[in-house]
Amino acid sequence: MLREGQATAIQRADYQAPAWWIDTVDLTFDLDPAKTRVLNKMRIRRNADVPAQALRLDGDELNLARVMVNGAGTSFKMDGSQLVLENLPEGNEPVELEIFTTCTPDKNTKLMGLYVSEGTFFTQCESEGFRRITYFLDRPDVMAMYTVTLRANKDAFPVLLSNGNLVDSGDLEDGRHFAKWVDPHKKPSYLFALVAGKLVAREQKIKSRAGKDHLLQVFVRPGDLEKTEHAMNSLMHSVAWDEARFGLSLDLDRFMIVATSDFNMGAMENKGLNIFNTKYVLASQSTATDVDFANVESVVGHEYFHNWTGNRITCRDWFQLSLKEGLTVFRDQEFSMDMAGTPSARAVKRIEDVRVLRTVQFPEDAGPMAHPVRPDSYIEINNFYTVTIYEKGAEVVRMQHNLVGREGFAKGMKLYFARHDGQAVTCDDFVQAMADANPASPLAQHLEQFKRWYSQAGTPTVKAVAQYDAAAQTYTLTLSQSCAATAGQVEKQPFVIPVEMGLLGQDGSALPLQLQGDSASTLSKTLVLTQAEQTWVFSNVAQSPVPSLLRGFSAPVVLQYDFNDAELLTQLAHDSDSFNRWEAGQRLAVRYALQAIQSDAPVAANVLPAAFVHALRDVLRHPTLDAAYKDLVLALPSEAYMAEQLDVVDPQRIHAVRESMRLQLAQSLQADWAWALETYGDTGAYRPDPVSSGKRALAGSALLMLCLAAQVSGDTVWHGKAYQRFKDAGNMTDRFNALSALVHSGAELAKPALERFHTLFKNEPLVIDKWFALQAGTCDRGGNVLPAVKQLMKHPDFSLKNPNRARSLIFSYCSANPGAFHRADAAGYVFWSERVLELDAINPQVASRLARGMDRWSKLAQPYRTAAREAIARVAAKPDLSNDVREIVTRALG
Ligand code: PHE
Ligand code: ZN
Repeated sequence: MLREGQATAIQRADYQAPAWWIDTVDLTFDLDPAKTRVLNKMRIRRNADVPAQALRLDGDELNLARVMVNGAGTSFKMDGSQLVLENLPEGNEPVELEIFTTCTPDKNTKLMGLYVSEGTFFTQCESEGFRRITYFLDRPDVMAMYTVTLRANKDAFPVLLSNGNLVDSGDLEDGRHFAKWVDPHKKPSYLFALVAGKLVAREQKIKSRAGKDHLLQVFVRPGDLEKTEHAMNSLMHSVAWDEARFGLSLDLDRFMIVATSDFNMGAMENKGLNIFNTKYVLASQSTATDVDFANVESVVGHEYFHNWTGNRITCRDWFQLSLKEGLTVFRDQEFSMDMAGTPSARAVKRIEDVRVLRTVQFPEDAGPMAHPVRPDSYIEINNFYTVTIYEKGAEVVRMQHNLVGREGFAKGMKLYFARHDGQAVTCDDFVQAMADANPASPLAQHLEQFKRWYSQAGTPTVKAVAQYDAAAQTYTLTLSQSCAATAGQVEKQPFVIPVEMGLLGQDGSALPLQLQGDSASTLSKTLVLTQAEQTWVFSNVAQSPVPSLLRGFSAPVVLQYDFNDAELLTQLAHDSDSFNRWEAGQRLAVRYALQAIQSDAPVAANVLPAAFVHALRDVLRHPTLDAAYKDLVLALPSEAYMAEQLDVVDPQRIHAVRESMRLQLAQSLQADWAWALETYGDTGAYRPDPVSSGKRALAGSALLMLCLAAQVSGDTVWHGKAYQRFKDAGNMTDRFNALSALVHSGAELAKPALERFHTLFKNEPLVIDKWFALQAGTCDRGGNVLPAVKQLMKHPDFSLKNPNRARSLIFSYCSANPGAFHRADAAGYVFWSERVLELDAINPQVASRLARGMDRWSKLAQPYRTAAREAIARVAAKPDLSNDVREIVTRALG
């Protein structure tokens, strides 16, 4: 067991069932920000399956007042932060245990356990926050029935919420009142929640398919009610979707969402009482962008879907975190795609998801924090809420979906619930159910091998080599796989890799695929690579084809194939697979970027060959492609993605090359950008649907390109037009895009626009976050961003204590603006180390996220490399670091 101040690694292999069960919990809270009193009455019993042991309850920063066993005082001892009861009655009879503690919510800046945000009480218990509320077996495999009584001053805390159903409420003496809640479902402690404060709710009654009535509520601060319509609609869509797609209905009379502006993460799936970061609830056309609207929909969906995948079936231990997170991300991705509707909008969502995976998860898998989807050990579990657990975990579920088919996946889910509803289980249990429900599938055939996706870290590389035999009309494709060593895993065994593919003729048309020995042909096929190397032969191939491999990004791997430029241009113009069509453009852009980055010559103005620029123009002007898709194809790969393709990273060189490419596109397509702005720039009455969002996105990119070109030519007429669009915009998307165009192009008008923006939105914290983020993320001109960030830290609106604000200014600079952060004078790194230490004293979880920003330091070129290492070492030298930050910097230093 991990104890306070003691950085011991927890091993998955050490898992042991709990020595005691907790069947019921009856909690009474006297809520007071300065000192909250918690009475915890539990009915516990020994786990007859394990040898008799003392009861060891987890606690953290609690003041213990009293312990009673079956109504009488008892002896106990403390072992570190654990409360140990050694003399409990023997035998298997239930024992009544009563524990009385106090805590100080208004001093709780970690935002774990019970805390106060803008005068309202909130809780956050995942993963180990409940022990900051009361002594408990704070582990997900101990599931109990909860009864909760909340007592508080009625004026200050008129709304009192907890999980489940309200069974009683009323007034008490001294201006106080109470509410009693009973949760009809047993749950692990990490799903407990309470909220108390001045809140108002949007309410909606719905009827499920089964004919049951439910009340949906979205609670916010009084001024924010108009901004909850989209969240409520998203919730209703989520309920309907889970019933329609998976036959999973809402199992509660009442489902509540509550928003808080102080939250470490995005949102939390507490049973029946989801608590959300305001960023993922509040949305109005004047304060939220299209991306915000889409994020609200997907996070509301994600938390709602957890009600089944996470809450009804939960994790046995935290090593199994991806059991609920990978599966639930897969479900929210599918939900967003189904909501988007058209095949093109689905492809856009898929590309966006893959972009996140490749720019954030692939680096994680190649860096010091690389870990399997089901990790083997951790020091601080909070550090393992990662893109590997979430996004790669979702890809692993997606591969299962593709290997068993859509219907087969639905069958697998059914079996999973039939077997495990109400239990705390493992990742293995999930795959087993999928395979057992689909015995003839390639998943069942290669089950043990497939499970390596859960146990082996690292991104596999698939290398393709092809040969066309014109005389025999055969096409021979050889795929081989490898995976680089990661910490603690030197040798990797082959994975099961589904490679969806097609073949294109030289004119781009789809060629029929017929494997040697097969009688029928298809236009697309999934090859299942299971060995280190495998060969497939296609017959009746009439011409030398262009292979379209890994369609739809059918596996989370790096695909290597020696495409020539002409082949990629063919794919970019014609591939019927929208993903690979986009991918072809990205491959070309990366290819030209790397050539320029690795050359010794000064960065040229024409990094991109004319043929590629023309191909991009054809996409931009294409008569039928959707604007959102065009915008993705025209967007250059990020600096972070380019950096990942290199062994030695010179961030300034990468930045200079990408800037040059961007300017080249801005100048050589100037007339086309003007056309695009004209064509897509007015979307009429605001609706955040994918089609009009796509138009606004493309118009925004066009405006930025026009402003960039204008900055160089000295003709600032586009800056004037951008300022006009900024002023006249009818929605936040257009307004913010225009503001960004001015800021990123370094226009004179950026300053007055920023001032005006602040004045307009000074009472909208989520918009002020955007205002900070934009300035911290802008293009560096002579090293001006860091001083600006330092200045902004002194702004009256800035606070390091609010995680959203810290992320908007500090993270936007340190983790999302490489061109400004990696300074030859190391001032960016010094700034980073100071902020990590400063944040660590306030909120270790947020600090350790910032610490991750230096994960890839060892790939940096000099002088950055040495300076970065020194900055990390400076953080590591601090004696009283949190376990959170200590684990990250220790791993980084290797
Ligand atoms: N379980 C939450 C989610 O993914 C994330 C979270 C983790 C929130 C830990 C708070 C604390 O939906
Ligand atoms: Zn989740």
